[in-house]
Amino acid sequence: MSHPNRVGRGDDRAHPSHRAAVVDGLGAWLPERVVDNHELASVLDTSDEWIRSRTGIGTRHLVAAGESTSDLAVEAGRRALKSAGTARVDAVVLATSTPDRSCPATAPEVASRLGLGGVAAFDVAAVCTGFVYALRVATGLVATGCDSVLVIGADTFSTILDPADRTTRAIFGDGAGAVTVRAGSPGEPGALLGFDLGSDGELADLIAVDAGGSRQRSSGVPAAERDHYFAMDGKPVFRHAVLRMSESTRAVRAAVGWDAADRLVAHQANARILAAVGEQLDLADEQVVRNLDRVGNTVAASIPVALADAVVDGALRPGHRTLLCGFGGGLTWGSAALVWPDLTVEAPPRRLP
Ligand code: COA
Repeated sequence: MSHPNRVGRGDDRAHPSHRAAVVDGLGAWLPERVVDNHELASVLDTSDEWIRSRTGIGTRHLVAAGESTSDLAVEAGRRALKSAGTARVDAVVLATSTPDRSCPATAPEVASRLGLGGVAAFDVAAVCTGFVYALRVATGLVATGCDSVLVIGADTFSTILDPADRTTRAIFGDGAGAVTVRAGSPGEPGALLGFDLGSDGELADLIAVDAGGSRQRSSGVPAAERDHYFAMDGKPVFRHAVLRMSESTRAVRAAVGWDAADRLVAHQANARILAAVGEQLDLADEQVVRNLDRVGNTVAASIPVALADAVVDGALRPGHRTLLCGFGGGLTWGSAALVWPDLTVEAPPRRLP
């Protein structure tokens, strides 16, 4: 194992850009408690029919009292390390917008609990695009000398939702997913071949938690209770999601020179968004991976949890030309392309409500 701060070694020092980041491990974890649409309808003015038809979601896993993002991240990280057959990495990058505390970052604690010693560990905040951003960061770390990186996406949005907001409570679930990437060559299965990342801060207000940040705190005006909750303007977000996810996936597909992709593993926000993006990419229904019916939108965990489910179900197989795509608050979006490698993946917990 190399030192996390080292930049290059031997031949790689002369040609750091020839080091590709190769996905070689995958794991996911979901909290035990499962809440179905009927349970939500017993406390909110909603129905199983509305939620299923407008979003495609049937159940979601939610953390128990006292359970936090790091708890889920550690379990997912442990499974990814096991899948890769390693106990060591050079760095941990945790994508999350619901850290255990606003300061410090959650990644160092996750790294310690995984027994990874004093490796570099930090959080990346890009809401639902966080996992793709973190993968891009890990690719850069590998190009400049890290031999392996654990990339985790973990969020517990149930802890920041307005208990009275039927829209957001219908959509979000909690979870964590993780991959390991190691230094390798661009020709290997699992090599991250290309990325497309973007943002539009002019639309930052569409998805936001107003309280708890420097703007609210420096105002000297105490925050109203509701300002601590997550708020989303669903309709424009929907439109931007379809547009940006379609553009971004097409851009990365062109950048890596594919005329077509075999699988799309995209952020699981809404079945109608997935269908629209799949159509833009000329993909058949079965080529668009879906697990939101049972987990909902798990924010930064969404893509790696969907990857784990798809591998276990056989929907994603070695050799598939695979596009990953995230979209979320910021606004942010991002896509990546890789040929899916042959990995052994444990099924994420599946419990009936
Ligand atoms: N149960 C019943 N009715 C609901 C409801 C629920 N859970 N949530 C909203 N409604 C109601 C609204 O109040 C509204 O009622 P009104 O017409 O009387 O005002 C009606 O349903 C339509 O609401 P609208 O917001 O127009 O629904 P929609 O079809 O746009 O679906 C979302 C709402 C949130 C599911 C959808 O906009 C969406 O998925 N947006 C994108 C989310 C996303 O991609 N996020 C990614 C980043 S986090």
